[in-house]
Formats: sequence, C-alpha cells, structure tokens
Amino acid sequence: MKMNSSLKLRITLLFSVVFLAFESHAQTNKLVVNTESGNVQINKHIYGHFAEHLGRNIYGGIWVGPDSDVPNEDGYRKDVMQALIDLEIPNLRWPGGCFADEYHWTDGIGDPNDRPKMVNTNWGGVTEDNSFGTHEFLNFTKKINTVPYITGNVGSGSVEEMSKWIEYINFDGESPMADLRRKNGQEDPWDIEYWGVGNESWGCGGHMTPEYYANEYRRYATYARDYGGNKLYKIAGGANNWDLNWTEVLMKNIPLQMMDGLSLHYYTVTGTWEEKGAATKFTKEEYLETLNKAAVMDDLIAKHSQIMDKYDPEKKVGLIIDEWGTWFKVEEGTNPGFLYQQNTMRDAHVAAITLNIFNKHAERVHMANLAQTVNVLQAIILTNENDMILTPTYHVFDLYKPHKDAILLDHFLSSEKVAFGKQSAEALHVSTSKSEDGTVNISIANIHPDKKVSLDIDLLGKEFKTVSGEIVTASSVDTYNTFEKKDAVKKASFSDFKLNKNILKVDAPANSVLMIRVK
Ligand code: AHR
Repeated sequence: MKMNSSLKLRITLLFSVVFLAFESHAQTNKLVVNTESGNVQINKHIYGHFAEHLGRNIYGGIWVGPDSDVPNEDGYRKDVMQALIDLEIPNLRWPGGCFADEYHWTDGIGDPNDRPKMVNTNWGGVTEDNSFGTHEFLNFTKKINTVPYITGNVGSGSVEEMSKWIEYINFDGESPMADLRRKNGQEDPWDIEYWGVGNESWGCGGHMTPEYYANEYRRYATYARDYGGNKLYKIAGGANNWDLNWTEVLMKNIPLQMMDGLSLHYYTVTGTWEEKGAATKFTKEEYLETLNKAAVMDDLIAKHSQIMDKYDPEKKVGLIIDEWGTWFKVEEGTNPGFLYQQNTMRDAHVAAITLNIFNKHAERVHMANLAQTVNVLQAIILTNENDMILTPTYHVFDLYKPHKDAILLDHFLSSEKVAFGKQSAEALHVSTSKSEDGTVNISIANIHPDKKVSLDIDLLGKEFKTVSGEIVTASSVDTYNTFEKKDAVKKASFSDFKLNKNILKVDAPANSVLMIRVK
C-alpha cells in the first residue's frame, strides 16, 4: 500500500504521542510538531482589541483633543497611536461594553460644542461630553490601520437607531443619513463590516432572557442592511462564562443565515468576583491560580463549540471572544469605576496561554478582543499625562505576530509540572503554526517562576536549517513596567537553542514567553 507523506507524518506523530504519554511520567519535556499537517488558518482577528468609554481608555488614553498639551495629531495621542500602529492591531471594538447599550450615536456627531452630554452610569458616573464619537473613532482606526468593530445599542436603543447608524456609516447613495454624514464632513462611506448586536444582553445590556434576546436579535439583524456591496458581519451578543444554555437557545432560535458570529465573555479573576486579588502583590499559589483560571478558556471554548457544532456542523458561525483578560482589584487611590490596574509578567503569561488556546480553536474562534486597550483592565498601554508605558501584555502580542493568519500545525507536548500550595499546572504552554513562506512558529510560555526548562522539539517534515528567537522575560513573575522604569519587561532577542537534524533543543528560561521561528 502506498502512503502519502502527510499520512506518514500523522502516523509518526501518533506514535510519538503514545511514546510521550508513557514518557510524561518521567517528566520529560518534549514537543513533537507535524510541520506538514494543518489546513486551518489562524484568523488574525483573534489578536484584536477593545476600547470602551470607560475610565481613561478613550479620554486621556487615546483622545486628548486638538487643544491638549499632550502631543497629539488631530486630538489623538501621538505616542499611543504609534504604539498601536507598531503592534499592527487587526481590529478595535468600540464603544463598549456596558457603555454601548446606553450610547446614542447621534449624540456623538456634528460640531463637538453642540453635542449633548450624558452620564456614564456604568463607569464612575462621570459626565461624557461625547467629544469622541463616530467620526473620531473611525478616523482613528484609519490612522492606526485597523478594522473597526462597532457594537450597537439594544438595551436602551431601538432597531431604527441601529439601522440608521449603519446607513450613516455605510450608505454611498443619497439618503437622509448619508447626507447627514456628508454634512458632517465625511463624503465617502466607511464600509464597516463588523457589527455587534448589543453587549451582555443577559446583564448590563438589558437583563434579558436568551429567548427574548434571540427574538430581539432577529429584529435588529433584519434591518441591519448591507449597502453598496459591503456585506455585514453580524455578531450576536453571546454568553457569560459557563452559561451554555444561552449559547444553546441562540443557536437554536437564530437562523444561521442571520448570524455570522456569536460572542462569549470570560474574565480571569483571582480570588472571588467580590474579593478580587491584587494586580501586583500575589503569592506563588495565587500566581498559579490565576494561570489555571486563564487556562479554563480551553474547556470553555470546547463546551460552547460543542453546542454550536450541533446546529452549525460546518462551523460557519464564528465564536467571537470579544471580552477576555485579567480583572484585578483596582489600583489603590484610583476611581473604582475606572478599572485601572497594573500589568505584570503574570499578565504576560495569561496572554500567552490564552492566545495559544485561541490558536488551537481557530476553526471556530474567528475573532477575540482583549479587555481593554489603554488604562483599563489587562491594558496593553498605560498612560500618565504626557507619559506612556507598554505593558508585558503588549510585548506578548508583539511576540505573537507571526501566528496571525498562519496555518495551525498539529503538535503533541509533554511537560513537567509546577506546583505551589494547592495549585499545580504544566510548566510549558505552546502553540505551533506555519507562515506563508514556510517558516514554522513555535510560541512557548514557561510559567515556572524560578526554573529553566529544557525542551526537545522534534520537527517532523522537511529539513530545517535556520532558527531565530525572541523572548519576553523578567527576574520575577511580579515584575512590571513603571513610568520610572519603562523597560523592566520588554521584548528581546533569544538564542539559547540548538538545531541538529530537525531536533531543536530550547532552554526556556524561568518565567519567560518565547517565539521560536524555524526555517
Ligand atoms: O470590560 C469591562 C466590562 O466588562 C464591559 O463593559 C462589560 O461588557 C463587561 O462586563
């Protein structure tokens, strides 16, 4: 019997898996990668972000206004803009979050001096002056070369309001909304594709039942029109954590042709929701608790996907994890409604573990959005008046760039364990992909706080000749960047590896995230 080479590699991988299953008891660290396996592309939108009108995210973080002393271009902070351009963020979700279901878009257009004000009841009860609205957001996404993802108001809005917003933004002909857009200075439609229909409709978005929301979704989606050949990607407001019933009811009651995506929200909380752990002060046991809670994402996606598979076996509807990340106690002395927290190497590991999981489920997960971009929750950027720092999480997203749009590769990993108190976990967390030019990308997080882990990587397939590496690491898992010491955690080049006949030996330093590229 003749066997093609891909089948041979699969069989070899299978034998390796069985072998490693035996070996794993002996704590061998081994990774087998089938470099000629995959057919699923990792959607670059998995690496997306989220900017809500919350705390100092938009105001102070992104937008300072054209008259500000903070160096700006047309009102946008120059430093933040450049950092986002450098990171090549694929998309940005806006205006919320809970804020989206209280936001009336017509308040945020026209002369800023004439815009009505509102109270941001969800986030600190501050006055929102609507100086950052539709035009300001869409011009920003253009400046940073990213794709906008807009969430409409279902909780306190109307079908008419959302449908007119889409007409305002996307219609190219003559119509009341398109003419209003032109009057406000934007001649051409923006042709925005990604639209969320409400946010957390089970909670701050209206406290609806899934049955009620499913009906509402059908009404909203009916009047969310495609204009000028631009086909909308409509995202239904999905479940919180383990609310599998929400996913079941929506999948059952919304016709597949009316929905392109279904969202899911999951936050990593150390301790309990009521008594959250601190962002920078934690024990090693709490550290592992955080990472184990982040790793729950794998099972969570698997369970929601299982339900989706029942109604959508061809996986046409994307699972959109449009809010994820760490949620700690707010930093002392800051407004509790602003959700400002620092970001340590622990957050870097949460990002690495989660992004590896998203890659693994790339067939179903089409987009994800870290909460949030600047100064809120697991931010990638923190600002202080004129100053800005990049967080460890930013550097992990930077490190992971090669995975975007790459082909997911099969692998098998056997890893030693790390344990503190009641918590234990595998020390290594990996993801493997292949770029268009044939380069194999291996992201590795060694979450062990104080032990270097030596890993043997068996690259099944063609012969590889060159290796390069990059690393994000620090002396301890609670290290973070401050305005005084901005580079305590940063990306650096890494070369502690050896390639010999497709066996790659990597010494992953304690508390590190690596990207190894083999060609
Ligand atoms: O990201 C902060 C908040 O968390 C969002 O506004 C809401 O959707 C979620 O509960």
